[in-house]
Parts: sequence; C-alpha cells; structure tokens
Amino acid sequence: VRNPGDYFVTSVGGQSLIIICAEDGTLNGFHNVCMHRATRLLSGEGCSGRISCPYHGWTYDLGGRLIGAPNSRDVPGFSLSDYRLSQIQVEDVHGLIFVNLDGEAAPVREIYPDLEDEIKLYCPDLPNLVFAHRTEATLATNWKVAVENFSECYHCALVHKSFFSEDAADGVNAKTYRIDVRGPLHVHYADAHRKGGEQRREDEFAAWWLWPNFAVQSHPGCVLNVRKWTPIDVNHTQVAVDWYFAEGAFGEDERAMVEHHAATVFAEDIPLVEWVQQGLASSAYKSGPLMIDTERTGLSEHAIAGIQDLWRDAMGENWQRQSKQP
Ligand code: FES
Ligand SMILES: [Fe+2]
Repeated sequence: VRNPGDYFVTSVGGQSLIIICAEDGTLNGFHNVCMHRATRLLSGEGCSGRISCPYHGWTYDLGGRLIGAPNSRDVPGFSLSDYRLSQIQVEDVHGLIFVNLDGEAAPVREIYPDLEDEIKLYCPDLPNLVFAHRTEATLATNWKVAVENFSECYHCALVHKSFFSEDAADGVNAKTYRIDVRGPLHVHYADAHRKGGEQRREDEFAAWWLWPNFAVQSHPGCVLNVRKWTPIDVNHTQVAVDWYFAEGAFGEDERAMVEHHAATVFAEDIPLVEWVQQGLASSAYKSGPLMIDTERTGLSEHAIAGIQDLWRDAMGENWQRQSKQP
C-alpha cells in the first residue's frame, strides 16, 4: 500500500477490513461492507482509484465517501452525502500497519511509547522489507498458553538447543537473554552469535511483544518476523509467523534459515503448549509457582507474571466474579 489506490483486505476479530492508500499517501481503513445492502466490496489486494460495489455499483472514493449510486437521482430524498464507508483507525509504525476497530482507542504510539524508536534502532530498513514466507500452525491450546510460552526462556536450554547454538543462523547467546517488562510492552534482548566485526544494534536479537497477542522479532541484518496468535476457541489457537527480508534478498540461505526455524524453535514448542492445555484440565493440577529470580535473568518467568496482571486488568469485574464462584 505504497501508492494511491493500493489496497489489501484483511480480517481482525472476524471483521473483514480494507486498508487502502489515499490520494495524499495516508492510509485509510474501512469495514469491507457496502452501505447499501451489505455486500463485501473488495477481496485480496490490488490498486484501484475508487471502491466499486460488485452488486449494484455504488462507488466510494479512497476516503470512503459515496460518490455514485445508479438511479439515485430518481429516488426521492436520497443524498449521496448521507452514506460513507465505516472507518477504522489505522496507524503506520515504522512500516508496521496497526488497525483498531474501536474509534476511541488510544494510538499504538501512546500505548507502547518506546516501540517505534526501538524497532528503528534494530531494523532501520523495516519499511522497505517485503514479505517472504509464512510459517503457521493450529495449536490445540488456549492462546494464553501459547503467549506465555513465547514469554519465557526458562525452557530454551532444554527444548531449543539450536536457538542457543553458534551454528544456527538465528542462534543467540543464552547468557545474554533478558526480558524487559514495561506494562503492555515486553522487550526481549539477546546478543546474536557474531563472527567478529563492529558491534551494532542491527546485529543483535530483539523481540517486542505487544499485549495481548502480537510480537515482532528482529534478527541480525534486519531480518524480521511478525507473529500473531489468533484465538479460534478456548482450546485452539492459530499462530502465524510472517518473515520479511530486504527486496530480492530471500535466497537459498535465507530460505534455509526460515525452514530451520520452522523445524526447530517453532515446532519444538507445539507439543509443549498442547500438553499444558491438557494438563490444565487435570483435576490434580493447582496453580504452580512462577520461577522469578531476583536479577530477572533469561531464566526468570517474570514476564508471565506481567501477562497475568494485564489479563486480570483486562477482564476486570468479569475475572473477579468468576474467581469468587465456588
Ligand atoms: S450492496 Fe453494494 S451497491 Fe448494493
Ligand atoms: Fe519455546
């Protein structure tokens, strides 16, 4: 969506959405539904100077204003200006496009204040990267179990041998792993294994987790993936890891790295989070302790405590009511 008229269709929370670049280069977002009789307007992606409904031909401009409706002059009392597409919030944060269906919600830059500056440090070229590959799976677990699994490296040494290996392209130094908890933003840092050279942020590993179900992970050389956990139902979660590389840079080595990640760290976590979900239903399980150490090292589970606090806050009275039930 770099040029006026460029658009793509996506969905969030079951709502179909259009993201489209306006004449002046700003991004607009609309619910993908015609204000006449509710047909879906667009699908996939493309470029178009206007949005035309395939059913009766109502036409909207790139700002969502209705600019044409066949036969409307002969319909008493009808005015084009009474109708426009339902707008959603869209925010471009260093090339990452965030949408919010709640028109009153605070902007991403306000909720996660350090996010943009920090991603810029680690991956300055992010706005120019292009999508290369998606690794995805349906997990037989609740989304919170999958997110908690991402948010600690207590299990890494035992489970993800390759992640700490010097031979893996995506490997990091275990001793340097740490997670900074800043309210709804958790930042993971680690030194990547480097062979000499000057030390630059762009050559290190960092990941930003955004409450509740989204993370961006930057590997050396501005290789980036974006991860989304989408709840399907209480026992199932869709997880997708989208990899981005510089234009033309997704060659054999890069493909091997992505496939290596899918076969190791990504695959290794799947049975674990599914066994946890089964275990949570065990009549013998009572909530166990979080292993939080005083130094908040890479082995500490403090980020999970942070997530559970955020969850309790978000649930508010619903959580209190439930927990008081016998
Ligand atoms: S439903 Fe879109 S023009 Fe009729
Ligand atoms: Fe893991």
